[in-house]
Amino acid sequence: MLNLRDTQKELLKKHIQKGSVVADFTMGNGNDTLWLSNQVGENGKVFAFDIQEAAVYNTKALLEKENCAQNYTLIKDSHHLLKNYIDCPLDAGIFNLGFLPGGDKSLTTLRSTTLPAIETALTLIKAGGCLMIAIYPGHEEGRLEGELICDILSKYDQKHLSAYRFNVLNAATSPYFIYVEINEKYKGGITK
Ligand SMILES: C[S@@+](CC[C@H](N)C(=O)[O-])C[C@H]1O[C@@H](n2cnc3c(N)ncnc32)[C@H](O)[C@@H]1O
Repeated sequence: MLNLRDTQKELLKKHIQKGSVVADFTMGNGNDTLWLSNQVGENGKVFAFDIQEAAVYNTKALLEKENCAQNYTLIKDSHHLLKNYIDCPLDAGIFNLGFLPGGDKSLTTLRSTTLPAIETALTLIKAGGCLMIAIYPGHEEGRLEGELICDILSKYDQKHLSAYRFNVLNAATSPYFIYVEINEKYKGGITK
């Protein structure tokens, strides 16, 4: 059976190399931050965001335990404020939406901040870079969040980006992901 997490990583690897600058917009327990840190190496840079102190704590502990390069900045703030922290172009970004595994399910990502965060992130990603968004439609906010993201991304001109959806057709509420390739440096504003 195809493992969608592995597929995401294979796609991300096309855009990430040693020295790349990337962002994990939903740090959680740090698994994606750790993977990104190892991919970009000591000359690269990882920005990671979460609104929860527990996420920052768990991620810091994981990165230290794994002897990661000092190539990361952990930010306790909402991802829609990313421009307060990142002022350079990105090679790739990851959103793994939903709530912290094993944590408070009410502290889930929300359409009101996820959408501005995605639209702002798109303006920072280089031509040739990508954005990966994992969606969990098994809970109501996740389902609505996914529908809205698909709707918004379908309105962008392909001149700027190509957006793909990967889902399991015969498992209606299973997680799926959206993969966005930036074709041309995007300055903001949906064009059609
Ligand atoms: C599914 S978890 C991420 C899992 C993580 N990538 C990992 O590898 O463990 C989603 C995370 O998004 C965080 N989150 C929710 N709203 C957020 C926001 N506005 N900005 C940044 N992070 C947010 C939650 O606190 C939660 O930790």
